[in-house]
Amino acid sequence: MRKTVIAGNWKMNMTAAKTGEFIKALAPEVASMNNADIVLCVPFTDIAAAVEAANGTNIAIGAQNVHFKENGAYTGEISAEMLVESGVKYVIVGHSERRQYFGETDITVNLRAKAAINAGLTAIICVGETLEMREQGITAEIVAMQTKVALMGISAEQLKKVIIAYEPVWAIGTGKVATAEQANEVCAIIRNVVAELYSKADADELTIQYGGSMNAGNAEALLAMSDVDGGLIGGASLKVTDFTAIVKAAQ
Ligand code: PGA
Repeated sequence: MRKTVIAGNWKMNMTAAKTGEFIKALAPEVASMNNADIVLCVPFTDIAAAVEAANGTNIAIGAQNVHFKENGAYTGEISAEMLVESGVKYVIVGHSERRQYFGETDITVNLRAKAAINAGLTAIICVGETLEMREQGITAEIVAMQTKVALMGISAEQLKKVIIAYEPVWAIGTGKVATAEQANEVCAIIRNVVAELYSKADADELTIQYGGSMNAGNAEALLAMSDVDGGLIGGASLKVTDFTAIVKAAQ
């Protein structure tokens, strides 16, 4: 059986001081919830505080990006080794905001994913279509291509360290959530692509999340779908009560 993973993506929110408070409040709320892996992907400067506050809880800490080189003259970048040493277990790769605002391409997403996996991190690889692409009827092609390029050179064994997050760009931060059927349809397309690239057994083991305006109200319907194995949650992960309700919805 594949794992359900509920991951918060704080984006550029929360200071280190607020991080400690947040996790101390969240931890007892979710302590008994063991049907999903719980992750908070925090800004780099919050990692130390997050790892300390989450120590001894069932909350794992993730980062929001990683560079593909081991070290060197890459001003402003953070390596996988740096993340591992700081206690991070997961890293988001290829979020649509990185693709849209910071020139991230399918190729750099693939390089970053490989760097993360080689260092022992679990890569949460984001794929998803824009509204224009959906209206053009090319969602399946776009998502399949993003998935295929992101997974280039990643072995079946390494696939165990991959989560794919289907995040339709039009649903991110817009309050416009995909219907449970739309989310399930595209997550199933991704799973079929992975089955073609690897095997059906490998695809059946892969955790595929939905992301895009998931909240306390809609999480249960989305998470009940057969091919939706969790969520990547932005806005609603910034409130303890909302994030707790989403983790609860995964039970
Ligand atoms: P949202 O963000 O939940 O605020 O729409 C999701 C994401 O970008 O991962």
